[in-house]
Amino acid sequence: MCGIFGYIGDKKTAPRMVLAGLKTLEYRGYDSWGVAVVPSKQSTNNTIVVKKKAGKIGDATVNDLPEGSLAFGHTRWATHGGVTDKNAHPHLDCSKTVAVIHNGIVENYETLRNELIKKGHRFVSETDTEVIAHLVEEYLKKFSVLPRDAAPAFSKAVQATFKDLEGLNAIIVINTAAEEMVAARNGSPLVVGFGHGENFLASDPAALLPYTKQVHFLEDDEMVIVSKGSIHIFHAHTGERVRPRKQLLTWTTEEAEKGKYPFFMLKEIHEQAGLLSEIASESPEQSILIAKELKKAPRVYLVGAGTSAHAARSASYFFSLVANKLVNYGIASEFDHRLSVIPENGALMALSQSGETMDLLEVVKKAKEKNIKIFSLVNVVGSTLWRMSDEHLAIGAGPEKGVASTKAFITKIAHLLLIAYAMAGDIKGGQKSLVRAAKATKEVTSKAYTQTIMKLAKKLKDEQHLYIIGHGLSYCAALESALKIKEISYIHAEGIPAGELKHGTLALVTKGTICMVFAPHDEHYQSTMANAMEMKARGGYIIGISDKNDDVFDEFLQVPDAGIATIIPNIVVAQLLAYYLTIERGFDPDMPRNLAKSVTVK
Ligand code: AGP
Repeated sequence: MCGIFGYIGDKKTAPRMVLAGLKTLEYRGYDSWGVAVVPSKQSTNNTIVVKKKAGKIGDATVNDLPEGSLAFGHTRWATHGGVTDKNAHPHLDCSKTVAVIHNGIVENYETLRNELIKKGHRFVSETDTEVIAHLVEEYLKKFSVLPRDAAPAFSKAVQATFKDLEGLNAIIVINTAAEEMVAARNGSPLVVGFGHGENFLASDPAALLPYTKQVHFLEDDEMVIVSKGSIHIFHAHTGERVRPRKQLLTWTTEEAEKGKYPFFMLKEIHEQAGLLSEIASESPEQSILIAKELKKAPRVYLVGAGTSAHAARSASYFFSLVANKLVNYGIASEFDHRLSVIPENGALMALSQSGETMDLLEVVKKAKEKNIKIFSLVNVVGSTLWRMSDEHLAIGAGPEKGVASTKAFITKIAHLLLIAYAMAGDIKGGQKSLVRAAKATKEVTSKAYTQTIMKLAKKLKDEQHLYIIGHGLSYCAALESALKIKEISYIHAEGIPAGELKHGTLALVTKGTICMVFAPHDEHYQSTMANAMEMKARGGYIIGISDKNDDVFDEFLQVPDAGIATIIPNIVVAQLLAYYLTIERGFDPDMPRNLAKSVTVK
């Protein structure tokens, strides 16, 4: 969802810093952008200057904006109002001395807009956001009788405005009179960056890495006044001061950059073997602690969205196969009906890369109201889910910027496999399993191996449909593989339980239908191969992914056997196939159409 970046300090190049900050947030997905600056050299009309455009930033610059040391910017994901220059953020009030950028949805914007129009305010956009600028203007008039009072009245005006907004919103407001950015959050993430003689605001900590690693994640209903020399955090409704919860980001700038890779996704795929080895060798104490707690719980639910839901499903197999523990799993947006049956001493484990997925946060919020213990596996430490959890575990994937989740998924299931082994009292067995998975992943991401996948991608690039089957954990692999392929290459791909073929899908198989088959030599091998033959007999073109070739395969990708962890290299092969299909089809794997990296709205 939308990206936010704000700077206040002594550097007069604030607009350029902001644009650079927005570019690091492009991976979140957007359809327009904008930058606003309070010019250092005030012109006669003393207004804020804005440059904003529909479309991607591309090679655009902000060299045509005046110099200034207070500026902010926004990459917009359209919710209210089409994708136009006018609807891009920032938005200004009538006097052009107040500017606002915003993430979320002002649910009562029509009422507010009508009231403001009656008071003579002129709107230029179709967005819900613009009401915020005019509301601040209205409160400024109310609180500061004379223009010179505007500075001290400014944060009060923003606070009053924020309290009038309904819905989940994060806002940042600047004003020509006050040397400060005033921000507030309720729902959408907002991070404060602590600098030396300068300070920052962003919607994602990765954007702050070039400037600072000291951050504070704003909680819901917290506000902050950010000037170049101070950061004042307080509760939006009570005004009560909040002590900064300074967090040190452990990521490096290099980790947040592409380096030698053409796209973040390819870089992140190639980081996976190393990450698996790290997880296998790091201290497992948090996994052991969580395993102990989950083992005691009479009922355990795993929940996530998208790829994280696939991780939840995969883990349900791990827990039953390794720890003999039946755990339920669910998709966050379809979880409501389960909440009523989780007993108070039940456990909910939420899985998320961003820790900001609204569908998931809503489930966790409701579960907490029922005193259900919340566990979470999260990549972004300090995120909303991280802070809502009773016990959390950082999956340690580093910043993941490709919209298609790869290393965050693999590290999630690696930790979940460890937790399952820990629950069975065999953490060493889990570590050994991950070492096998790391070795197999290294093999399938080797230069030679990726050549075979590139060749296959060239063959398949014009296909419209692709069916992927598997049994057990290979069915989870089929689902995750299908999601990767469809969300970036736009080929319709479907993951199907192999055993379900004869219950319907087989009707779709005709001559040349592409059928990928995950067929590791596990307990399901024979039945999976029988299903593959059923597809072949009806003309299907069979792509076998297995440790051994077979005559039924028209194409064969060898994946070394890694026991129960074979799901990991299997999915890595599919990640690479999805990536190269996307390249062959001329699309951008990092920023697929219609998708965002973190879905922070319902
Ligand atoms: C996966 O490739 C997608 N980017 C998407 O399904 C994602 O997994 C989902 O939005 C959940 O995100 P989260 O892990 O940050 O909660």
